[in-house]
Amino acid sequence: MEDLNWAQLPFGYYKTSYNIRCYYRRGKWGELEVSSSEYISLHMAATCLHYGQEAFEGLKAYRGKDGHVRLFRWKENAARLQSSARGIRMAEVPEELFHAAIKKAVQLNIDYVPPYGTGATLYIRPLLIGTGAEVGVKPADEYLFLVFVTPVGPYFKGGFKPVDVMICRDYDRAAPLGTGNIKVGGNYAASLRSLQQAQEAGYSTALYLDAKEKKYIDECGPANFFAIRNNTYITPDSRSILPSITNKSLKELATHLGLKVECRPVPLEELPTFEEAGECGTAAVITPIDKIFDPKTGTIYSFCKNGQPGPVSTMLYRKLTGIQFGEEPDPFGWMEIID
Ligand code: PLP
Ligand code: COI
Repeated sequence: MEDLNWAQLPFGYYKTSYNIRCYYRRGKWGELEVSSSEYISLHMAATCLHYGQEAFEGLKAYRGKDGHVRLFRWKENAARLQSSARGIRMAEVPEELFHAAIKKAVQLNIDYVPPYGTGATLYIRPLLIGTGAEVGVKPADEYLFLVFVTPVGPYFKGGFKPVDVMICRDYDRAAPLGTGNIKVGGNYAASLRSLQQAQEAGYSTALYLDAKEKKYIDECGPANFFAIRNNTYITPDSRSILPSITNKSLKELATHLGLKVECRPVPLEELPTFEEAGECGTAAVITPIDKIFDPKTGTIYSFCKNGQPGPVSTMLYRKLTGIQFGEEPDPFGWMEIID
């Protein structure tokens, strides 16, 4: 991997040496298994293929300034995977099993954790799927929990560089009482049409409104939405968005830094009043939003002066990534050294 150009890595799949697997059979989880194969052998009637019994997570390992490798708030990902599992009636992965599997996956691929200073990280993708064969619609009785890792660069080209997004008016990503608040594959399948529509119109991603009334901002395709106004961090409260761990952390950081935090329904009409806007997530980190285009009215809302990220987004980005890369103290106890 010496020939890997770490600083230019896209957010994509790159083969690493090992992945970790664990099977749930006869009502219990087995031992962790190490595999060097990129493939899985699956029954053709597995419920993940037919009835969408699939959930995943996304977190990162960071090579710090001191050379150590750190995980960020993995317990939150473990809890969210359990919530996703309950949401589509899959076997839950115990927290200790989740921790052991992600730690092992990183440790066995430690040479793929990108060097400090390149901006790249090792993305960890835990996956839980129904593997038991069923034809009637019901939960499987067998599951596979798998963890692979892959070195990645920024999700949006350029990293901490403003992007333009398009409000999605033609499709919904999640129903009001549906599965938008858990991380299941079906939500992402439902987002592909709007993503393509936004990209064909020249935008980086879609911004979803609440599915019921189309009055409130929900979230972006792969990340939560936030805005800044009057020293206040404002982010939507909605039953149909994914509870982002990055957003949760930014709310805590914002409070710590003396900002006010408002988590509430955010009406579309408030857009012109915001001083800054952004997306946040594991993959997106903080991605400032320059323009938001509403195809219904033709309105373009702008948030960046001379294409530059705003001061509060910049401060939050520096603080968050400073903690993640071990450049700053970690007053919240978010990081765990694992090498
Ligand atoms: N919203 C959606 C739809 C996502 O896919 C993600 C990514 O995981 C997020 C928000 C951000 O969540 P997190 O900060 O936990 O990565
Ligand atoms: C993440 O931020 O980890 C995500 O899962 C977003 C996207 C790649 C689906």
